[in-house]
This record gives sequence, C-alpha cells and structure tokens, in this order.
Amino acid sequence: MLCESNEELIALVEEARPFTKLGKVADYIPALGKANANDLSIAIHYPNGDCVAAGDVDRKITLQSISKVISLALVLMDRGCDYVFERVGMEPTGDPFNSIAKLESRGVTKPLNPMINAGALVVTHMIPGNSIEERVQRLVAFIQELADSEKVAFNEEVAHSEFETAHLNRALCYFLKQHGVINEDVDQLIDLYSKQCAIEMDCRDLADIGLVFAMDGVHPRTGKQIIPFDVARICKTFMVTCGMYNASGEFAIKIGIPAKSGVSGGIMGSVPGKVGIGIFGPALDEKGNSIGGIKLLELLAKKYSLSMF
Ligand code: DON
Repeated sequence: MLCESNEELIALVEEARPFTKLGKVADYIPALGKANANDLSIAIHYPNGDCVAAGDVDRKITLQSISKVISLALVLMDRGCDYVFERVGMEPTGDPFNSIAKLESRGVTKPLNPMINAGALVVTHMIPGNSIEERVQRLVAFIQELADSEKVAFNEEVAHSEFETAHLNRALCYFLKQHGVINEDVDQLIDLYSKQCAIEMDCRDLADIGLVFAMDGVHPRTGKQIIPFDVARICKTFMVTCGMYNASGEFAIKIGIPAKSGVSGGIMGSVPGKVGIGIFGPALDEKGNSIGGIKLLELLAKKYSLSMF
C-alpha cells in the first residue's frame, strides 16, 4: 500500500510546502484572494476505507474547475454521450482555460472540450431542472453521493463574488448563444456555473470523489455503482488530456495520474484501481494549477511509482 502512515505524508507535504512561495493565490474572483498562500494539504483514500491525510486538512476548498469533471459525469448520465458530444468536443486546446480565441478562429462554434470554460459552460447549460435551485440541487446531491457526505454545499460568498466578476465567462456565453450552442439566459447560466464552482468540501471528501473515478464509478464503501463504467472512463480520459489545462502534457509525463485542478488550488487525483487523492494548496503557478500541489503529486508519484504510463 502506498503511504501507510500520516507521518510519511507529513514529510512529503513539508518537502513540497516551500514551493508555495513561488506561486500566487487567484484573486480575479475576489473571495478566493483571501486564501492563505502557504496552506498545503493532502488526503489519500484507499478502496478498503482507510484514509491518510496531512497538512492543513480541515481547510475547505471550493471546487472551481474540479467541478467540471463532475458536471460532465452528471450530464453524460442524464443526457447520454451522443447528445453531449454533439455540443462539446473531445480535443485538448493548448490554450489557457478562459481563452475565447479558438471558438472564433476555428470557424466551429462548439467548444473544443468540457474542461475549458467555454466547454464547461455548455455542460452546465445541459444540467436538467426547472429552476436554478433545482439544477444546483441536482448537482449538489450527486456530489454528496460521490463524497458520501451530506455536509457538501456551495459557498454563498464565493458564488456571489464570481457572479459579480465573471465578465469573460459572460462573453463566452454570449458568443455561444449567438451561435445557437446554448439558449438560456446568460446571467441565469452564470449564476448556476458560479454556484457549481463554489461547491465546497475538505480534501478528504475530495479524495473520496477521486476514489470513485479511480474505481470505475463504484463507491468502495457503499458498493454502489454511482457512475456507469463508461462515463467514469470518459471522465478519467479528459482528466489526462485536459485536466491540468495547457500543462496537461507535462503533467502526464512527470506525474501520470488522471487529475483535475481548480483555481482555488484544489487538485483531485484518481489513480486507476488504487487510490483517490485530494489536495489543497491555493498558491498557483502561471497556468492556474496549485504549485505546491503539483510538487507534492510529483514527489508522491515518484516515491510510489503511481504513473499509469
Ligand atoms: O470559470 C472560472 O473562472 C472559475 N470559476 C473556474 C476556473 C478554474 O478553476 C480554472 N482552473 N484552473
């Protein structure tokens, strides 16, 4: 078993922590700017129910872009693959997560993949329900089931802060609406997306969700197949090809774990058949990924040979 004791994990966290000094907390969403840049924490969940954790483990993380892989799983289950992939593509971009460039320059209106903002907004648009409240509740209930925790909810302050400042995301939505890819009110969609990104939990819950993807959609504690095998497979593939944005290639070579990051500094990792990993380290590198978190995963992957390649 990898990393049997909290002590082993504490040593790795302290080895990676100095790297947090090289990064910067995201502040384009003002409420995220309040995070402590030195924080770094990790939890690892095993299929037998064991969990080891180290660092500032009780800090809560808003999922931000990590939510994109979960909303994708939900709409694939609710709408089916054909419906979803008629509206969003499967290819990596090499562009920053919030770029609008390829939407226009490729002469194709459908976003390249569901992990960039344009694609994620189309996915969020597909979450079914008769009101924003119903759609948020559908997503929150799904995440509660994945994390096996009823504590999961969205952070009102972070959601409001993103809603007030999401000008670039509104621009993406207006472009998509002009071209008929989405057809709902833009502010309504931004409201739903902001609440989705603000769904909050600690790194243990995040590791538990990572474990469900690692175990092909089955929650090992409950034995329930929460996500169909094929949907879990598709999500893990996107985590490898697009999960760390325009750093996904380097991440696959150096670390080799299906993973998804968010600008809050969260990273969810799913080592196929082995463990789920949840990391929180709010200091980010220039591509928007947790700088201490990536270092920590690099140390972990090397020490325990976790690369799937
Ligand atoms: O769309 C946004 O700006 C955020 N709420 C989510 C972006 C994000 O986490 C990108 N991650 N690296």
